[in-house]
Amino acid sequence: MRAILSKIAAAFRSSEGIIVFGSLLVVFAATLATVYWPVLTIKDTPSNQWRPLTKLELEGRRRYVANGCTYCHSQYVRPQDWGIGAERIAKTGDYYRQSPHLLGSERTGPDLSQEGGEHSDDWHIAHFINPRWTRPRSLMPRFEFEGDRNIKALVAYMQSLGDKNADERMEIQKRFHKEAIAAYKKGPDENIRWLHARVPKTWRAMPTESPVTNSSVARGEKIYQDYCIGCHGPVGDGNGPAAKYLEPRPVNFTTLKRHLVEGKYIGGILYYQIMNGITGTAMPYFKKDLESAKIWDVGNYIEKNFINHTDDKYITEGIPASYEGKHAGPVTKKPTPESSRGEAR
Ligand code: HEC
Ligand code: HEC
Repeated sequence: MRAILSKIAAAFRSSEGIIVFGSLLVVFAATLATVYWPVLTIKDTPSNQWRPLTKLELEGRRRYVANGCTYCHSQYVRPQDWGIGAERIAKTGDYYRQSPHLLGSERTGPDLSQEGGEHSDDWHIAHFINPRWTRPRSLMPRFEFEGDRNIKALVAYMQSLGDKNADERMEIQKRFHKEAIAAYKKGPDENIRWLHARVPKTWRAMPTESPVTNSSVARGEKIYQDYCIGCHGPVGDGNGPAAKYLEPRPVNFTTLKRHLVEGKYIGGILYYQIMNGITGTAMPYFKKDLESAKIWDVGNYIEKNFINHTDDKYITEGIPASYEGKHAGPVTKKPTPESSRGEAR
């Protein structure tokens, strides 16, 4: 040991004492920066978002620990994680009196620190029973084995994440849920009138902005299968496998045509509803998942396949996100004679 030390000292043209002292200094500085400094910044006071958990929420938290949800989900947004869907930078006071902490280090699934109020309760129930029903491409395991009681506790815990901020979002969910249920109980036609009345006037007067071409419809079909099919069903009648857990149940798209008198548009309505979801119901918003062109595409697919009514009246300005010109060649299995737009009709 001594011999090695003196060799190192000689190599650095320094004394053994300085080498030992210098090494200890480096270790001490590193410990200070990575261990003591963070400890010093921990405040044992609640943040302004914090509130205590209820009994049911605490029970859900125990199910979260028991099922190892933390191996796939974080509850901690660092400044470098900030982005769409991870809005609030974590503060130590958010975790006041929480033990064990559930910060997590893996994000196989999304961060859940602000999950409360993002979805309705019935969305969560269907998602826990089988995540593929609400998110067809999800790799999250099923938790049906937990049973109704534990799933209820898990949902309560999910809806508490974000504390007072979550409570605020839940207030909005509950307010619209009441309205949605009232409209739903009046029957499908009344329900659709209510749904469409929620869409701002300018959107209701807007035809689809993106031409209903074969390739747009083909892209829309893929998006529908990746995001919508578990609730709205393969034939668009609202009878996907998740539907029996949802109230209101998904809309039957094939009945929409009778709400469209000549000259009325559906493209803008669909776009607005898909972008923002229908708060208070299981219909999620897709503004974080789908960019504009994809929302038009899936709307075009619903128009063409389920409603049997297309209303593209605009000529898109600029280059569409996926340009298909006259020379692009056929996209679908059954090519139709090509024109640059409107080829699907
Ligand atoms: C193997 C990894 C894995 C495990 C374990 C896991 N999840 Fe997930 N989770 C995911 C993935 C991936 C997603 C994104 C797709 C989806 O919505 O299903 C997700 C999504 C979610 C969402 C929806 C987030 C949103 O707003 O879109 C919630 C809530 C959730 N998980 C809760 C849980 C809970 C509670 C547990 C434990 C009982 C758990 N997860 C266990 C991977 C996992
Ligand atoms: C978790 C289930 C669920 C998923 C996933 C889902 N929806 Fe919905 N959707 C609903 C429910 C429930 C309603 C009905 C709400 C009501 O009647 O108040 C609805 C309503 C709608 C409406 C309103 C129809 C109208 O005429 O007012 C549109 C459009 C729609 N969904 C499109 C989509 C698209 C496109 C996707 C996929 C990108 C999708 N939905 C994914 C549950 C879902």
